[in-house]
Amino acid sequence: MKTRFTDMFGIKYPIVQGGMQHLGVPEFASVVCNAGGIGTLNITCYANPEEFHEAVKEMKRLTDKPFIVNISLVPQLTKGEEIFRYIDVCIEEGVAAIETAGADPSEFISHIKENGIKLIHKTPSAKIAKRMEEKGADAITIAGYEVAGHPSTDGIGTMILANKVASTCNIPVLAAGGIGDGKSLAAALALGCEGVVMGTRFVATTECPISDNHKKWVVSHGERDTVLIQKSIKNMARVSNNMAAKLTLEMEDRGTTLQELLNVIAGRISRECYKNGNVDGGIFAVGPVMGIINDVKPVQQLMDEMVAEAEAACGRVSRMF
Ligand SMILES: Cc1cc2nc3c(=O)[nH]c(=O)nc-3n(C[C@H](O)[C@H](O)[C@H](O)COP(=O)(O)O)c2cc1C
Repeated sequence: MKTRFTDMFGIKYPIVQGGMQHLGVPEFASVVCNAGGIGTLNITCYANPEEFHEAVKEMKRLTDKPFIVNISLVPQLTKGEEIFRYIDVCIEEGVAAIETAGADPSEFISHIKENGIKLIHKTPSAKIAKRMEEKGADAITIAGYEVAGHPSTDGIGTMILANKVASTCNIPVLAAGGIGDGKSLAAALALGCEGVVMGTRFVATTECPISDNHKKWVVSHGERDTVLIQKSIKNMARVSNNMAAKLTLEMEDRGTTLQELLNVIAGRISRECYKNGNVDGGIFAVGPVMGIINDVKPVQQLMDEMVAEAEAACGRVSRMF
């Protein structure tokens, strides 16, 4: 396949494994790179820039292909001065691209770009997408309401946002939220996007470093099985409607404090559950795209099948004219 996004990185498929808290580690992200897409390391998987530096070196041992580093700018997760240290690791190791998400990346843009790293900014807002293009972003990930993790509170889906941003921005746009097969890849391309970012679909892959119970959960649940939590703390998240999410909503209804909420929503609890297989024990980010995910399969097979299915879908549609 050839789009401006595949050209930008010299990759085979315009498919990105999105930033994934606790899961975006070299053993997984490198598989996506080696299979022809582009994988993403997540700084939240590491306690500090030194540990992250070791992960980047490991990534370079596992793949000679370009990869992305997701830097969440949510202030609760990473502080401003520390972010420069993560960026410096990327510069030292020649990382191809940084994807910023969660807040305005303006103070970091010149440091990233002047050191030869491509900047992808992920946003749920068409307005912010255009502003980031003007400030120098090389590509935009537009995140529709369907995304696992943090959609916008305004409820606008991928179908509208991807279409609008692809026509208002001149840089390549990637659609995120609700993409899980070749038909949705074809739809994103038809809307004018030059690639897709997937999270939930990649959870249900053989190589994803999450328990089999979590993978089975994705396969056995559907489009109605996610909920929006954390509205009360202005950090809305789309997650699976498991016991932890139900408890969180109940606590939010009661007006529980952030401190108490953290006993359920803290990232370390999810991380532990991802390992021990207790799906109900912690918050688990997934999207309604679960409704079209029917199996767990190897990353290479997933991506090859997606691209073949996208081509078939485009052929079928073109014969309608
Ligand atoms: C388990 C999981 C963890 C995620 N963690 C992050 C994260 O730390 N930072 C981020 O920017 N996006 C995160 N996301 C969102 C993805 O990068 C991507 O934008 C989203 O999953 C796309 O929607 P989809 O799930 O419908 O494919 C996560 C998604 C999943 C499924």
